[in-house]
Amino acid sequence: MTANLDLARARAETPGVGHVVHLNNCGAGLMPEPVLRALTEHLRLEAEIGGYEAAERREDAVEATYDALARLLNCRPEEIAVVENATVAWDMAFYGQRFRAGDRILTAMAEYASNYIAFLQMAERTGVEVVVVPNDESGQLDVAALANLLDARTKLIAVTHVPTNGGLVNPAAAIGRLARAAGVPFLLDACQSVGQMPIDVEAIGCDMLSATARKFLRGPRGVGFLYVRHAMLDRLSPPFLDLHAATWTARHRYTLRPDARRFENWENYIAGKLALGVAADYALGWGLPAIWSRVHALAEDLRQRLAGLPGVTVRDLGRLRSGIVSFQAAGRDPLALKAALAKEGINISTTSVASTRLDMEARSIPLMNRLGVHYYNSEDELERFVGALQRQL
Ligand SMILES: Cc1ncc(COP(=O)(O)O)c(C=O)c1O
Repeated sequence: MTANLDLARARAETPGVGHVVHLNNCGAGLMPEPVLRALTEHLRLEAEIGGYEAAERREDAVEATYDALARLLNCRPEEIAVVENATVAWDMAFYGQRFRAGDRILTAMAEYASNYIAFLQMAERTGVEVVVVPNDESGQLDVAALANLLDARTKLIAVTHVPTNGGLVNPAAAIGRLARAAGVPFLLDACQSVGQMPIDVEAIGCDMLSATARKFLRGPRGVGFLYVRHAMLDRLSPPFLDLHAATWTARHRYTLRPDARRFENWENYIAGKLALGVAADYALGWGLPAIWSRVHALAEDLRQRLAGLPGVTVRDLGRLRSGIVSFQAAGRDPLALKAALAKEGINISTTSVASTRLDMEARSIPLMNRLGVHYYNSEDELERFVGALQRQL
């Protein structure tokens, strides 16, 4: 079905495929062997020689993580901060903005709950106004409507690239072009897109981008990262500082780090950070265009098959659709369906209105099933899933 990717090798290097049919890559991808090895070897080293000493010994490898992420996103290593997860990454960029009453934040219908909750808190604190750009007829952010809404009051465009709840891919580069032309900072939540498709911050034109290790990048849990364009650094005020983000230079003075690591804090998950770098290199090794081509083809094929099943409705929006596939099966409780498939060794998930309220309310969907395919999933696995689902209908 898709060329240019050695599926047998991808599967041989993924220990989890021997245990489950994993279609929850949008929750967390299965770690490949090199990532698992980097993680466990460092934990072992910490146990054997001490955590600080292990970090010192692996200092170069830790630095290599920034280089790998810079290659992944087409930016400079100094523009990367490695933090606890995508939420912390996004929060550091968002709460680092300075808003005043009457300023506006433009966002989209599929915005992630945590981001929207932060908008609401910021609105309470400062009087900033949150404006939701409507969707176009395909269900993606309406670029023309965004262009009309941009004005002198707009202080930030904050959009989720691929939402948590379905296949939609928002038109990030078109948004970036408008943001640049208007001189408005653009914060992209790329948590669900990094690792499944090529992401180039120059081509997109975003100023800040947040992502996580554990999803399509196939890294470990508990680590994420933030990209901040160099020119943006001094326009943001890190929401909190410590002795890693800044240096206490005199009794009444401190100096911020010159790079994006001013958004990090001192204590961190070194094993996770090392494994994140390995995950980025591993994805680059396959090639993001090859990964995307296979993910896209597998997901489209699955949508077609699902749409052919009686009572099943595919719910994905947008012109371009990702590896996340959302659907409803008439008369079947999504949680019960997920549990029934789990009994057959098939991992799928659910997504609720609480994660993407604007979008789900507009479509009157309280809860639905969701799955995320990855390049290491085989056609046979999809067949097994479709068969198991059919038996549940
Ligand atoms: C679109 C989106 N943004 C942000 C997050 C939060 O990521 P993390 O759990 O790494 O903080 C998620 C998690 O599912 C997500 O789907």
